Amino acid sequence: MDKKVGVKILGTGSYFPKKILTNADLEKTVDTSDEWISARTGIRERRISENNEPTSELAYKASIDALESAGIKSEQIDLILVATTTPDMLCPSTACFLQMKLGLTFAPAFDISAACSGFIYGISVAKAFIESGLYKTILLVGAEELSKVTDWTDRSTCVLFGDGAGAMILSVSQENDDVLSVVLGANGLYSDLLFLPAGGTAHPATTETVNKKMHTIKMRGREVFKVAVSKMALAAVKALELSGKKRKDIKLFIPHQANMRIIEAVAKKMGIPMDKIFVNIHKTGNISTATTITALDEAVKTGKLQKGDLVELVAFGGGFTWGATVIRV
Ligand code: ACO
Repeated sequence: MDKKVGVKILGTGSYFPKKILTNADLEKTVDTSDEWISARTGIRERRISENNEPTSELAYKASIDALESAGIKSEQIDLILVATTTPDMLCPSTACFLQMKLGLTFAPAFDISAACSGFIYGISVAKAFIESGLYKTILLVGAEELSKVTDWTDRSTCVLFGDGAGAMILSVSQENDDVLSVVLGANGLYSDLLFLPAGGTAHPATTETVNKKMHTIKMRGREVFKVAVSKMALAAVKALELSGKKRKDIKLFIPHQANMRIIEAVAKKMGIPMDKIFVNIHKTGNISTATTITALDEAVKTGKLQKGDLVELVAFGGGFTWGATVIRV
């Protein structure tokens, strides 16, 4: 029987739009304060994309960065996956727009919709495709423009979100297995706690849906908070168990950057000191499926992670969905 193949992570990349929106800027448009936002969320500023800069553009720039870090050419990619909740259009997929921008015409391309957990779901999909032998080199992107589905008059949500993209290149390997474990979960019974009501088939776009701002994110923050903490901790513990590693073996834990208080509560629940938790929410805000991969890329680029280090990513989002993975960088 053939030896089981493994997955090698060849490189990562990221991209953020240039425009910075600070808490002080928000103070001028809604009834809020830097003090409230910082204390309740840990966020100080977020990046905002231009009107003529759709999600695929951020995905493209992050992909170019990842290709450079992997030291491969785009022609070597044989599958493109884009995890996103904020696609350029409902159809075609953002992955197809990205394929076009990369100048590739044959690599199959599709989107993954699992809200903030999308990148972890994507790692699982990429791993399965590589292990099955169907594809050899996969570009996986997490890209979001939440600023374009935010109600900028709703202070309870508009202070939370931002835009950005991260990318990872995964390839087949006979020697390595850099994805040690992946755990996924979902529970659709919670779908009404965090959702974007209109624009799909349940509420197609009409003047009424636009007037009622039904094309923007609606959230019951307190309820989301509680489930997020318990599911993220559960998934992280399970993925660690499955990887056969112990907490002390993990150099860095990278949780979904939704809210500093969620991150601290998950760390406390798992008994992990905060100096082992990577946090960059203060400058990014919540960028949904792009948080874990952009944070991972930053940790690599700033030397917080070295080649061969083990890292655990854990995320939670609308659906609800959740997931965790232990990987070697
Ligand atoms: N500025 C000032 N006051 C505010 C603001 C604001 N931006 N937003 C809400 N408030 C007010 C409320 O109106 C309320 O006032 P009241 O007491 O007079 O009624 C008060 O602050 C408390 O509101 P809560 O919603 O109870 O505040 P809470 O402490 O729960 O914090 C928050 C709100 C930050 C949204 C929190 O619930 C949270 O982080 N939830 C997690 C949700 C999340 O992160 N979602 C992201 C998407 S999901 C994901 O990525 C995991």
